[in-house]
Amino acid sequence: MAALLCMVVFLLAPFLSHAADPDPLMDFCVADLGSSPTFANFPCKPASNVTSEDFFFDGLMNEGNTSNLFGSRVTPGNVLTFPALNMLGISMNRVDLAPNGLNPPHSHPRASESGVVIKGRVLVGFVTTGNVFYSKVLGPGQMFVIPRGLVHFQKNVGENKVVILTAFNSQNAGAVVLSTTLFDTNPSIPGHVLTQNFQVDSSIINGIQSNLGS
Ligand SMILES: *[C@@H]1O[C@H](CO)[C@@H](O)[C@H](O)[C@H]1NC(C)=O
Ligand SMILES: *[C@@H]1O[C@H](CO)[C@@H](O)[C@H](O)[C@H]1NC(C)=O
Repeated sequence: MAALLCMVVFLLAPFLSHAADPDPLMDFCVADLGSSPTFANFPCKPASNVTSEDFFFDGLMNEGNTSNLFGSRVTPGNVLTFPALNMLGISMNRVDLAPNGLNPPHSHPRASESGVVIKGRVLVGFVTTGNVFYSKVLGPGQMFVIPRGLVHFQKNVGENKVVILTAFNSQNAGAVVLSTTLFDTNPSIPGHVLTQNFQVDSSIINGIQSNLGS
């Protein structure tokens, strides 16, 4: 009996460890963002309080403000901005890039990403865990995919503004932005770790930190 149980657990293990967000247990569970999430799902708003408005979201209609260091803006349509996504395991973002703008190298720990270019010309690239770089320049209507957790970026290489819509198999994909993860944390990673990592002296690390505004 114990052997059988072990066998079942062993056979299920790959499915358990590779699962994305859990499957829904109800038709919907519009998040009550005022309550604390348990196991990453928010408690549901009482069904009697739910209206049509809960299932529609205007947040991706407007151009994001790209007046910043990178000339880019990601506008999230995830559970935190669109509470009806709670428990459904999906979300979307809008990415605006000014000419030459860069959505800097980052990864999403909890989701694969697919995206479609709506406007402009974009260089999309990602790097595998084996350090192979894949990339292509895309135009309107062309689609891309970024496997879960891999580092990737989008850069505007055209003359005009870029708009991209991206979709994730998580209600809250999370983003690890490499530059800020290393150089703009609170508190800072000790300087000797960064100088040793990059084999440079501290003036270079300080320069990067001040360029990033920290
Ligand atoms: C549900 O609606 C009632 C009446 O409008 C309101 O008082 C209450 O705060 C609402 N509850 C939630 C969790 O939204
Ligand atoms: C865009 O962001 C910049 C920098 O934060 C700010 O000065 C500017 O007012 C913003 N523009 C709009 C239209 O909100």
